[in-house]
Amino acid sequence: MESNDAFPAFKPAEAMAARLQQVPFSGIRKVFDMVKELEGKGREVIHWQIGRPDFDTPAHIKEAAAAALQRGEVHYAPNLGIPSLRKAIGERTRIDTGIGVDGENQAVVMAGANEGILVSMMALINPGDEVLVPNPNWHHYKSIASLVGGVPVEVATREEDGFALDPEEVERRITSRTRMLCITSPGNPTGGVQSKESLEALARIAKKHNLVVLSDEIYARIWYGQGPVAPSIYSIPGMAERTVIINGFSKTYAMDGWRLGWTVASEELTRAILKVRQYTTVCVNTFIQHGATAALTGDQACVARMVGEFGERRRIMLDGLRAIPGLTVAEPMGAFYLFPNIRSFGKTSAEVADYLLAEHGIAAVAGSVFGDAGEGFLRLAYSCSTKECAKGVAKLKLALAAFKK
Ligand SMILES: Cc1ncc(COP(=O)(O)O)c(C=O)c1O
Repeated sequence: MESNDAFPAFKPAEAMAARLQQVPFSGIRKVFDMVKELEGKGREVIHWQIGRPDFDTPAHIKEAAAAALQRGEVHYAPNLGIPSLRKAIGERTRIDTGIGVDGENQAVVMAGANEGILVSMMALINPGDEVLVPNPNWHHYKSIASLVGGVPVEVATREEDGFALDPEEVERRITSRTRMLCITSPGNPTGGVQSKESLEALARIAKKHNLVVLSDEIYARIWYGQGPVAPSIYSIPGMAERTVIINGFSKTYAMDGWRLGWTVASEELTRAILKVRQYTTVCVNTFIQHGATAALTGDQACVARMVGEFGERRRIMLDGLRAIPGLTVAEPMGAFYLFPNIRSFGKTSAEVADYLLAEHGIAAVAGSVFGDAGEGFLRLAYSCSTKECAKGVAKLKLALAAFKK
């Protein structure tokens, strides 16, 4: 037998694709690990670190998935997703945006909104294309843009603008390589929402510079403003052809563990997305898609109930935070995040977050995890129980008073 002693030693670091150097592990995970460690030692923790609802998935959705499993819906689904769900996604998009959508040809069922972003960027971004992403933001846009060979270009947003993208700032960052503009409204980590007027200005810029818009609307129905849903750029005349909507079930229906989301785009862009899907995940689990159909077509009272409860927690949290000396907080109109300004405490957001968790069992995420424009802020997710929110703000007041001393 041939000996391979003379061959070079295998070095895992050299085996890894260079593009991974642009992509860090998630800073949010670090907090999760620390929380686990503390709880393992018997410490009580206020869970403001988790960007997902604490509710159970509504029963009628679970029953529809279980029934599909029982009747043997266990084989491959169409690459696009089961027709009843695609139709329901089309109808939901029409309700939310006012634009008629042929779900069977314009929707793709995804394994979470995150897969929707990955597959869309794989389908639409060429190596070296620039992708405009808000800063601070949920870091997946930036990392996924890098993973597909694109170049993320961050656009800083400001507290005084409610962390909405400033169209002028967006236009200043556009070059001949800019291909895509990512909008997250309502946003993570800030809960900030793009107004209709700002979306109109962004739409003009997208048309002028011939950009594709990736509009992440996963929090659109967790919305505390006028009407049932946050405004969408998809509704603006001429934008449906150049917009890919990213949406999903994780937040609205408390289904994050199901891993279900969708894209809606023109038929042409949907076919490009489909091509990538055929060679990646092929399709989403068949029986859970029947649960998702029940989510969209069934009684929407469950959504109203959960959003109502988020609204109650938001009020408790805002009132509590505003009573804390040295801390200021904007009133975000969507999602389940608050992004208080902690600059007056004279420490980095990571230092404050570490102190709160280690000394007081309050789990928050440092704003810097979401980009340099997030420095000086903390992300607090009020996706834990109402009781925990009330207890948390009282604890935070004491913790920050002690920190100041
Ligand atoms: C803005 C935003 N988009 C997408 C996602 C991912 O959603 P999904 O669970 O559907 O992949 C998240 C999750 O935190 C998010 O905050």
